[in-house]
Amino acid sequence: MDAKDMGSDLKDILFTEEQIHARLEEMAAEIDRDYEDKDILLVGVLRGAVMVMADLSRKIHASLQMDWMAVSSYGSGTKSSGVVRILKDLDNDVHGRHVLIVEDIIDSGLTLSWLKTNLENRGAASVRIATLLRKPEAAKVDVDVSYVGFDIPNEFVIGYGLDYAERYRHLPFVGTLASHVYGG
Ligand code: IMP
Ligand code: MG
Repeated sequence: MDAKDMGSDLKDILFTEEQIHARLEEMAAEIDRDYEDKDILLVGVLRGAVMVMADLSRKIHASLQMDWMAVSSYGSGTKSSGVVRILKDLDNDVHGRHVLIVEDIIDSGLTLSWLKTNLENRGAASVRIATLLRKPEAAKVDVDVSYVGFDIPNEFVIGYGLDYAERYRHLPFVGTLASHVYGG
């Protein structure tokens, strides 16, 4: 899917495919430096983090394993419910592991703050967070995010894994939606 396929549904492109890949390359280099010889367990948060996980992981040189969790804090709309539920748990025991949570976006920060505590309580040796995007609200929650791709304004974004009602995840870039798409 590309900008052409979106027609008038696309408002703006915030980050092109090239910009995203360049930033992920920098984040991967930072991660390689920080973890040195540590074995990393990358934990992708389904479904939004699929693209970030695929591209970021392939730029990391350190030894790693991947696992996935599905949590829900959002319905099909654009507002956070603040309620976190585990829909799919990890297949790995994280006890003693260096866990790096991979996310698409941090908005209220509720999901991540809950998830980080949850994995720490399971005895992980360390739990860090990497996210492609971060909204201003996240600053209000006391959650330490080690790797941030881009800080963005408080606007709903789609593409590169991010959806609106499960659509637009397969866009290679991150963009905003025209208001008529929201049922206006
Ligand atoms: P939080 O708990 O408010 O930080 O919500 C995080 C989750 O909400 C993300 O992992 C996304 O799945 C979803 N989300 C938050 N903002 C957006 C957005 O602008 N577009 C698409 N999904 C979003
Ligand atoms: Mg997500």
